[in-house]
Amino acid sequence: MKDFNVAIIGATGLVGQEFIKVLGQRNFPMSSLHLFASDRSAGRKLTVDDRELEVKETTQQSFDGMDIALFSAGAEISQHFSPIAAQAGTVVIDNSAAFRMDPEIPLVVPEVNADDIKEHKGIIANPNCSTIQLVVALYPLHRANPIKRLIVDSYQSVSGTGAAALEELSEQARQVLEGRSVVPHVYPHQIAFNILPEIDLFMDNGYTKEEWKVVEETRKIMHAGDIAISATCARVPVFIGHSEAVHIEFSEPMSPDTARRILAEASGVKVLDDPNISLYPQAWSVAGSDEVFVGRIRKDSSHDCGLAMWVVADNLRKGAALNAVQIAETIINRSWI
Ligand SMILES: NC(=O)c1ccc[n+]([C@@H]2O[C@H](COP(=O)([O-])OP(=O)(O)OC[C@H]3O[C@@H](n4cnc5c(N)ncnc54)[C@H](OP(=O)(O)O)[C@@H]3O)[C@@H](O)[C@H]2O)c1
Repeated sequence: MKDFNVAIIGATGLVGQEFIKVLGQRNFPMSSLHLFASDRSAGRKLTVDDRELEVKETTQQSFDGMDIALFSAGAEISQHFSPIAAQAGTVVIDNSAAFRMDPEIPLVVPEVNADDIKEHKGIIANPNCSTIQLVVALYPLHRANPIKRLIVDSYQSVSGTGAAALEELSEQARQVLEGRSVVPHVYPHQIAFNILPEIDLFMDNGYTKEEWKVVEETRKIMHAGDIAISATCARVPVFIGHSEAVHIEFSEPMSPDTARRILAEASGVKVLDDPNISLYPQAWSVAGSDEVFVGRIRKDSSHDCGLAMWVVADNLRKGAALNAVQIAETIINRSWI
């Protein structure tokens, strides 16, 4: 198999660092790896395996000779540089929200809609972290018994906001425990020992953009435009790992045992579900894992066709870097590059 020249745009960030780890751990077929970030990081050295690689400033020339570019430097950078990269013949896999709802651009979670990649014209969008773990758990159930309505409440870790938010949580926790006052920088309010029901900007309809991403991206990825969806997304003082309480209304009743059996066989899913021994997925323990973990599977007592469950995944891995690398692997394995 051919080896590929790979560029990471945003290599110094939390997702960029996870890209480096995931590519190495999965023995991605690379002939070379190139690290890019802003001019602030130009010249910085990052350790990759046992080598030191220099970070370069992202410019129009960064894509010369690159086969694949993994973008995680924010929507503005993606909007500016992705078309330039695609024009240069580089396949872009973009982690930002810039192109996700563009009808011409595939939005992909390989366990769900890998075939959509085939239509790509140089740019493929990686979905929002809270949507990725949701659809990995939902799609096998939806195939067995179409979902009519969905209510999702998310409890999202601070690493979803980036490196500065991790520092803010550590610093604030220290300040609160020392009895000092807290001045928020990244979030509008204190995040340590608190919960903020605000992720991304508020929209005119009262939802936040993060909540609307869950609604629209879920429908696009699952090719299920008619599912009724409502979401509330909250930021919680957890370092890594997003958790979701999911309430599903199916077309027909589905027993918890049937759901457990389907999910136990589903690709990328691990069921952790035994109330007798307090076994259920926890953000703390799934950090660093690749799977989407599901537990607390039970009948939703408010509806004959209802089921409730608890879904947790590492937002930096399956929610970002791992999913993007799996997209790249699919492209290579199916010769779509
Ligand atoms: N964190 C998650 O769980 C997650 C999940 C899914 C998607 N995403 C998306 O991934 C992207 C990055 O997230 P993150 O958590 O890694 O953020 P982060 O830790 O704040 O890192 C941001 C990265 O973007 C780079 N960057 C900033 N301005 C740039 C510029 N003008 N030119 C080139 N590079 C620039 C930074 O480089 P410098 O170090 O040089 O500033 C850094 O490498 C965002 O679009 C985010 O929405 C994140």
